[in-house]
Amino acid sequence: MAAAAGRLLPLMLLLLPLLVVGAAASSVTYDHRSLIIDGRRRLLISTSIHYPRSVPAMWPKLVAEAKDGGADCIETYVFWNGHETAPGQYYFEDRFDLVQFARVVKDAGLYLMLRIGPFVAAEWNFGGLPVWLHYIPGTVFRTNNEPFMSHMKSFTTKIVDMMKNEQFFASQGGHIILAQIENEYGGDEQAYGPGGKAYAMWAASMALAQNTGVPWTMCQQPDAPDPVVNTCNSFYCDQFEPNSPTKPKIWTENWPGWFQNFGESNPHRPPEDVAFSVARFFGKGGSLQNYYVYHGGTNFGRTTGGPFITTSYDYDAPIDEYGLRRLPKWAHLTELHKSIKLCEHTLLYGNSTLLSLGPQQEADIYTDHSGGCAAFLSNIDSEKDTVVTFRNKQYDLPAWSVSILPDCKNVVFNSAKVRSQTLMMDMVPETLQASKPDQWSIFTETVGIWDKKDFVRNRFVDHINTTKDSTDYLWYTTSFDVDISYLASGNQPVLNIDSEGHAVHAFLNNMLIGSAYGNGSISSFNVHMPINLKAGKNNIALLSMTVGLHNAGIHYEWVGAGLTSVKISGTKNGTIDLSSNNWAYKIGMEGEHYSLFKPDQGNNQRWRPQSDPPKHQPLTWYKVNVDVPQGDDPVGLDMMSMGKGLAWLNGNAIGRYWTRTSSTDDRCNSTCNYRGTFSPDKCRTGCGKPTQRWYHVPRSWFHPSGNTLVVFEEQGGDPTKITFSRRVATSVCAFVSENYPSVDLKSWGKSISDDGRVGAKVQLSCPKGKIISTIKFASFGDPSGTCRSYQQGSCHHPNSLSVLEKACLNRNSCTVSLSEEGFGEDMCPGVTKTLAVEADCA
Ligand code: GAL
Repeated sequence: MAAAAGRLLPLMLLLLPLLVVGAAASSVTYDHRSLIIDGRRRLLISTSIHYPRSVPAMWPKLVAEAKDGGADCIETYVFWNGHETAPGQYYFEDRFDLVQFARVVKDAGLYLMLRIGPFVAAEWNFGGLPVWLHYIPGTVFRTNNEPFMSHMKSFTTKIVDMMKNEQFFASQGGHIILAQIENEYGGDEQAYGPGGKAYAMWAASMALAQNTGVPWTMCQQPDAPDPVVNTCNSFYCDQFEPNSPTKPKIWTENWPGWFQNFGESNPHRPPEDVAFSVARFFGKGGSLQNYYVYHGGTNFGRTTGGPFITTSYDYDAPIDEYGLRRLPKWAHLTELHKSIKLCEHTLLYGNSTLLSLGPQQEADIYTDHSGGCAAFLSNIDSEKDTVVTFRNKQYDLPAWSVSILPDCKNVVFNSAKVRSQTLMMDMVPETLQASKPDQWSIFTETVGIWDKKDFVRNRFVDHINTTKDSTDYLWYTTSFDVDISYLASGNQPVLNIDSEGHAVHAFLNNMLIGSAYGNGSISSFNVHMPINLKAGKNNIALLSMTVGLHNAGIHYEWVGAGLTSVKISGTKNGTIDLSSNNWAYKIGMEGEHYSLFKPDQGNNQRWRPQSDPPKHQPLTWYKVNVDVPQGDDPVGLDMMSMGKGLAWLNGNAIGRYWTRTSSTDDRCNSTCNYRGTFSPDKCRTGCGKPTQRWYHVPRSWFHPSGNTLVVFEEQGGDPTKITFSRRVATSVCAFVSENYPSVDLKSWGKSISDDGRVGAKVQLSCPKGKIISTIKFASFGDPSGTCRSYQQGSCHHPNSLSVLEKACLNRNSCTVSLSEEGFGEDMCPGVTKTLAVEADCA
């Protein structure tokens, strides 16, 4: 026994490095071509997942989905204001448990890119910088001044030391292969004057002095000093060149969608265009590309930036806010990553040549010493599909597309030919949980000053300097006397409010008379509200609100908010300017002061039980016991019946809700053409609808029973209509043509047909536990349209439906080849056939 163990020991020692779980490296350097990890050039796919935008219970699955999607690396920012809550006071628990997140990534066998910032922008409150820092005398953000730099240095050092303690840097055998300091400072540097350059150079040297043993990057920083690598952030980075021939071409932010603002329509970036941009980048010598964001998640609580950025940070990302794959985007990019990886060695070690194939068509060809050849054929014409000849073979190249040929012969991928199915997700309402009347209780806020006023001024104070962002809310209240003769004129008096933002609810004599807010990214507004005054004393109470602090822009930390002028016009005596009246102020809501959202019993006497909770009543807190939505689908809180406010489940802050709608003509298009340069305004949906109706409530926030939902409604709504909805896939669609690449990426190199035109197929798959219950549409011929609105063309095979039903009905998944015999004889020779299918999952 002992002898056997003795013989096994050397073998085990030999195997030990192979047994190490998780990603590990020992050295990361770079040359002009790529990062070099343990002596080998690497072509890397990286995916941003921001740890505080989901919950720890979601992390392993999110990371696994990224890995399945072909990621080598996870990228995250570090969110300073979530971690250093007061100077020197740190928080690393729960959603902010950075070490745990890093460990999840390591255990999944992926690398980590840590963008420490600590300024991050990121549509995150105040760009990630702590609000308290703004109030340390002498501090100016992101430029050459002692307080800012010393705090930035201590925080950076704190994070680096935490990572070192865990042996997380690759130089220590860990998985962190890159770190970033600052964020997109290059474009702002000049505006900060001479201090700008000095600060940028200081940031670089401060970072280098941390001795992490891994390279540092600075994104959008053309003057990043050696050895810091300057990287690109954009929708396209194929034309980017680093500032030195010794540095590799790295793309730190490829935006696969875009963020949303309350009151605006929803942007989408088509998967064909995302894939196009990535393929172009790798074809043009890129070596590391990161999706910002691969999973956007949720801006829980008051973490969202602003003004007006939604609580959802879905971003139209490959993994949706709720942690589910977005198809076809996720799958299309997964195929892209596999295709690029087939070329890795040839791309990284070969020589490249550029060959023109037409006026706007070209081939980037790579050949290496071992005989490898890989080619990227591009058609950058944004309108015309074309056929090109490359090495005596013809290749069909749709407009604005790239084909990848890992052997310079066979197309394994074309960015415009989406083979994956589309998965249609719906929010399916649960029956109302709060139906038992005795479960409601309410707390009604006082209009204006509750308890004692905080202070009085005969002018307006800045909202943010007053609340220091401890709350969204600041009351500005005053009163004035109206002589009966003012009112005799028959004119309609008007209340005129000017505000620097972000929103206001106006109360006259305790009644809500109107609300106003800024638009888009402009926080300031003015509003004119017709009012009815009474003779004698009139009270005005204006509830000013912030909706996420600015998160980017030069000197953004000085942008103010709150009222700047209040006047009443239209009285017989002309305009009454109330701006220099005595204004009494109160910071925050009373319910916030008592922490009514906390589940403890301490507040029980404040809550008033109500069998029928009041509806459409402003400034009301509602509390209700709710059941756990059945099953394990992700959950969204449907706030359609409500106005604006905040919500919590069991004390966890779901976030700000606001059913603010966009205008009906807010840039929406009925179709979205993927061809041509993308911008966030290109493909929008949801005009005339609330920007955000559902709010993600992570499953891990529910207890098996005894769950409490607390909602603070500012304007008035019907709380009895609030429901939980489950996010479920209800149907699948596919649209595949005969001329789509048919190579099975898994068996590449083993068996490969020399003719890419045979064997295209449609694959349908419902989520686990569901079956294809109906085929709603099937047409083999020349159908057109998009999922849920496909139409037959002039060529339609009559057997289409029966072939699909036979192959797919009552199955969880099915595959139908376009060469299927069941389609019978060719009804329209010469037409390139497409099979379009829509099916329900049940
Ligand atoms: C970039 C910035 C990111 C994020 C992004 C838009 O400019 O670096 O932090 O704000 O824009 O989503």
